Amino acid sequence: MDIEVKKKRFLKGIISVPGDKSISHRAVMIGSIAEGITEIENFLLGEDCISTINCMKNLGVDIELKGTNVKVQGKGLYLNKSEKILDVGNSGTTIRLLMGILAGQKFETTLTGDDSIKRRPMGRVITPLSMMGAKIEAREGNFAPLTVFGNKLKGIYYKMPIASAQVKSSIMLASLYADDKTTIEEPYPSRNHTELMFSSFGAKVEVNGTKITCYPGYKLQGQKVIVPGDISSAAYFIVAATLVPNSEVTIKNVNVNPTRTGIIDVIKEMGGDIVLTNERTINNEKVADITVKTSRLKGIEIGGSLIPRLIDEIPVIAVAAVFAEGKTVIKDAEELKVKESNRINTITSELKKMGAKIFETEDGMIIEGTGFLKGNTVESYNDHRIAMSLWVAGLMAEGETKIKNAECVNISYPDFYKTFDML
Ligand code: S3P
Repeated sequence: MDIEVKKKRFLKGIISVPGDKSISHRAVMIGSIAEGITEIENFLLGEDCISTINCMKNLGVDIELKGTNVKVQGKGLYLNKSEKILDVGNSGTTIRLLMGILAGQKFETTLTGDDSIKRRPMGRVITPLSMMGAKIEAREGNFAPLTVFGNKLKGIYYKMPIASAQVKSSIMLASLYADDKTTIEEPYPSRNHTELMFSSFGAKVEVNGTKITCYPGYKLQGQKVIVPGDISSAAYFIVAATLVPNSEVTIKNVNVNPTRTGIIDVIKEMGGDIVLTNERTINNEKVADITVKTSRLKGIEIGGSLIPRLIDEIPVIAVAAVFAEGKTVIKDAEELKVKESNRINTITSELKKMGAKIFETEDGMIIEGTGFLKGNTVESYNDHRIAMSLWVAGLMAEGETKIKNAECVNISYPDFYKTFDML
């Protein structure tokens, strides 16, 4: 499906965005290996999270889905062998976190996914899980399809070469099956939803700076989980309301966990007008309403420990930078090359087609703020975050922008276009 978008004169309204993707995945997986029932409210009905539900069902977990409510009948740590090869679709979080759970099972499981998943590196989880005692056979040692042979696991100390919440969470899940404690050290803090959810389900986790220690032997107990809105989905509205003239948009009930709020810090530093109200804590997660008004932006430098706090928002930050005064430099972001698409390459090439002065670098991009884009036909590369970023670009471009393969927003935000049209 192709979609067309035109320049907007203003955006006004109060909206909410769907449930957080990272938290939705974790609630289903952790609920599955807990004892008793886990009830999830405001679950994200995106294709990625549905892939997680289907995989867990194939592993013998009873899961009921009614609207955005999910009821998981926890099986405890040990699941049933799947009759089928598990298909994770487009979802990196599903395959990597699930590998941690499967490493400790008493059977083997084969996992595969779509073309994008088959190109993404799995060695980053295979290495630590193998150190713990799992045996994993992967295509070229690094790619799906892959088979995880469950085994008795041992606790490890693992210093992660990259800040990745997927790698950290995979090891944390495996640590529940280990004979002793496991400590993980991150170069910079990445999103900590697994740590927070482990604690609320009764597992023992200690966090000391960038070191996380997990202890086996504590019973996980099913919980009620209310999933807050996804800040990665809110990001498109935050940037659009900042750029489009005469705008004021409030996004209600958004997860503002400090490991995720890099987008707010960056847009504010660029000169954006963002106000958080109604701040509260639900299931250990911070939640707030976010109000954004049109502002003039200036270019800045983005790198270091900020990167993991806004990794999924970089494509839309690049759009903001086009309309900022001066130069924006994004560095230390080579992880973007191994996302659903090579996002350094895909966002740069498509914004160039629209007339942006944007340049690829080894670890990021440089954007000259020219304040101008013109409509053109652009490609999503079947990457949901590229499609949504190009939509925001289209709201600001002269003339019409046509986004090809625009239906990929279904991965994380099926009502994305509809919600924008309401503003
Ligand atoms: C996620 C972690 C991040 C992020 C992804 C979701 C998670 O990936 O890009 O969209 O839920 O743990 P990495 O761990 O590869 O950085």
